[in-house]
Amino acid sequence: MYTTAFLDLPPLLTAGGTLRLPGSKSISNRVLLLAGLSEGTTVVHDLLASDDTRVMLEALRALGCGIEQNGDTVHISGLAGKLSVMQADLFMGNAGTAIRPLTAALALLSATQGGVFTLTGIPRMHERPIGDLVDALRPLGCVIECLANEGYPPLRLAGGQLDLSCPIQVRGDVSSQFLTALLLSLPLVSEDQDLVIEVVGELISKPYIEITLNLLARFGIQVQRQGWERFVIPRGSRYQSPGHIHVEADASSASYFIAAGAIAGIEEPVRIEGVGSASIQGDIRFIEAAEAMGAKVSSGANWLEVRRGAWPLKAIDLDCNHIPDAAMTLAVMALYAEGTTRLRNIASWRVKETDRIAAMACELRKLGANVVEGEDFIEVTPPVRGNQAGGWQHASIHTYDDHRMAMCFSLAAFNALAPTADASKPVSVRIDDPRCVAKTFPDYFEALFQVAQTRPDWIPVITVDGPTASGKGTLASALATRLGYQFLDSGSLYRITGLLAVEQGIDLDDANALEQLARQLGEAISLRFDREHIWVDGRDVSEAVRREEIGQAASRLSAYPGVRQALLELQKAFRGLPGLVADGRDMGTVVFPDAALKVFLTASVAERAERRYRQLLSKGVSVTLDEICSDLEARDLRDRSRAVAPLKPAEDAQLLDNSALTIEQSVDTVLGWWVAGWPHVIVRH
Ligand code: DC
Repeated sequence: MYTTAFLDLPPLLTAGGTLRLPGSKSISNRVLLLAGLSEGTTVVHDLLASDDTRVMLEALRALGCGIEQNGDTVHISGLAGKLSVMQADLFMGNAGTAIRPLTAALALLSATQGGVFTLTGIPRMHERPIGDLVDALRPLGCVIECLANEGYPPLRLAGGQLDLSCPIQVRGDVSSQFLTALLLSLPLVSEDQDLVIEVVGELISKPYIEITLNLLARFGIQVQRQGWERFVIPRGSRYQSPGHIHVEADASSASYFIAAGAIAGIEEPVRIEGVGSASIQGDIRFIEAAEAMGAKVSSGANWLEVRRGAWPLKAIDLDCNHIPDAAMTLAVMALYAEGTTRLRNIASWRVKETDRIAAMACELRKLGANVVEGEDFIEVTPPVRGNQAGGWQHASIHTYDDHRMAMCFSLAAFNALAPTADASKPVSVRIDDPRCVAKTFPDYFEALFQVAQTRPDWIPVITVDGPTASGKGTLASALATRLGYQFLDSGSLYRITGLLAVEQGIDLDDANALEQLARQLGEAISLRFDREHIWVDGRDVSEAVRREEIGQAASRLSAYPGVRQALLELQKAFRGLPGLVADGRDMGTVVFPDAALKVFLTASVAERAERRYRQLLSKGVSVTLDEICSDLEARDLRDRSRAVAPLKPAEDAQLLDNSALTIEQSVDTVLGWWVAGWPHVIVRH
């Protein structure tokens, strides 16, 4: 998951390949609540791991449910409709799918069994209306206090006296989640009579109600639906655990990859697994909208394959009431269409994680689109052709703590393909706060990079070169972490060659044998890296390659042109999405001469010797500072004076003397350069 402050998306050119999607948020949280209210243990498979489900799981735990989690499988021992904890303060984050049904369930339980519960959230949650639900519950006799503003969380639920003789009325025209909350929780009090729910106003987002009814049925509750206005929960309804239940993948999450296929599935389709034509989620009908725009889709019960059909995409005019969440994806697809796309009947966007109509309009305009926004519609016309004002613009996309904003706008990274763009001058797309995707899809960007491809020279590289013990490895690794980039410690490749040479008894003067050995790395000899470890043919050599004698061997063999040449392609192959930070001696001069930012470290010999001295002491190696100084000087000389790829700053490198800087200060300095240089000239000619 990307925890960086921002994520720069390189221009993407094609999409293709297979991915598996995480479980649906809507289904996950409904299933969790139903399991929590049922008798006995329910094993939930393929549960989505996200902020919203975490909130629900924690609330259930606080209420006394037994929860055992093992990867994406969770065992839940339910309350069997009986409160076991009479007082709890529950923090609901920004999870609408958790606070609404829990409010209804706890209000009813508190009114019949006693108990006091407060429900709070992050500031945005306190701006999201819940009044329609409160208004439905209070006439039944539930005591609900709005602790800050009437109609909004935080809430306090404190007892009451139920009278269920009249039909229960709830508005359905702001959010269908209020009706869902009642449907999920009213079976708790259906012992003595049928319960009738009447919907006031035109019900929106009907497909989500279908999910609710479908899942209630899986838990033994057969709600009778009369049109979309009346729902009857039969007397004596009881939650019965189905034992095991699988959560299908999120159809709204699928929309980004369906769109990627429609835009960039040029050579091969994007194959999405975990959701398909048998889905119970309304957002699966996004497929029809994508097809209307030009996508070519084939499907099975739980898979989809999408490729580009019509190109440019076709503009559409669509009532999106049936696919409110996935419709956001259409607004970004509209950037690739000919003409103006109009999405209607989307008033619910205004009360979601953020005011999505306003947010969408603002961010699309940053990219150069022409947007008209209304109370319940949005119209999007792509940027016009040309580079002057009015064409595509570099954009730093604000995401409003809204996962869908981040995911939708990642599709703007395909802008080089847009019919109105200049294919050779793609614009940069920066996604602010990429971590917000954790709400429903923590590994969204990893999944995107798995199925998106681009020209290697469009993937940005930051090089960090410098002499031995200058701290370049530490700096480069920290930069990679802060930017969410790939990382190449090129010295380790020379060290691995050195280690294997020593182990195999290869003479360090035998240039040919060493070159043959280097050629096998990544081929006959398998390599695997993470930030802390290096595995060679499955063996962890992280410690071994750090030994002094191996460093010496690496220093010697790295002077042979054949060895350097042999390792060149291997190093270039580290250039992967969304970017690379590479450290070494010749990263900016030889391996990545087109790097977007080149840093050359110039710490003094004295300071570097001091650092190395402390490092060796901590490992229990006994040396003197003088010995280290002369060793460093000898190595510097060898690195600087060798015939090929000598250690020297690239002409366009930024020099950084970090002698007096802490690691944090060095990282911040370089990040400052990186941010100041945005939008980076990604394509250097
Ligand atoms: O950075 P390091 O100490 O792990 O590097 C080990 C040796 O590899 C070093 O003596 C020089 C050599 N090297 C190189 O020649 N070119 C690079 N890009 C990286 C390392």
